[in-house]
Amino acid sequence: MYQILKTSHSHFAWLALAFVALAVIMAFVARMNKKSWSKSDFKFALFGLIAAHIQFLMGLILYFISPMGLDNLSGATMKDSVGRLFALEHPLMNIIAIALITIGYSKAKKLLNTDRASKTVMIYYGIGLILILSRIPWSSWLA
Ligand code: HEM
Ligand code: HEM
Repeated sequence: MYQILKTSHSHFAWLALAFVALAVIMAFVARMNKKSWSKSDFKFALFGLIAAHIQFLMGLILYFISPMGLDNLSGATMKDSVGRLFALEHPLMNIIAIALITIGYSKAKKLLNTDRASKTVMIYYGIGLILILSRIPWSSWLA
């Protein structure tokens, strides 16, 4: 169970990053062209949201079963940058990021067919993406 989830969370991370980034790019393009977001453009925001939620769910379970997660949360871990990243910074930062993406999605959904829909997605998903990228365990992921 642990190995399967760990591998899935590791591989699905590519997809989640790609879908969130695609939503930001499409929202940015719409802003540049001063186009309002219709229901079909909004699919990009929905796919980004779903990918982020699936990744979140896998990460949340991992946090409780991984030896790098809650198990490793202690005072000594706080002095070790790799331990702190997995046990604290990565989970906490990603929860904040996915909350922002979810808030952005629900705000934008109410603004469909106005130019504020794409602006809202661009800002909320954009900040979320930056937060996610700031706390990816790059060295173990790409190793
Ligand atoms: C612990 C896990 C999860 C939590 C806490 C969670 C939480 C939420 C919340 C709070 C919203 C509300 C957004 C709004 O106001 O419209 C939402 C929407 C949504 N979630 Fe999740 N979610 C989780 C897992 C998932 C998973 C695994 C999927 C996909 C397989 C998913 C797909 C969706 C979709 C499609 C919506 C948008 C519904 C809409 O169009 O309004 N979520 N989720
Ligand atoms: C979009 C959001 C997220 C992305 C892109 C992401 C990505 C990653 C990546 C790339 C790894 C490294 C995998 C490896 O070394 O091969 C990882 C590990 C991990 N993630 Fe996430 N993650 C996200 C959200 C979360 C959340 C919300 C939690 C917990 C609440 C979480 C908990 C963990 C844990 C505990 C590990 C370490 C697993 C282990 O090596 O035992 N992640 N994540």
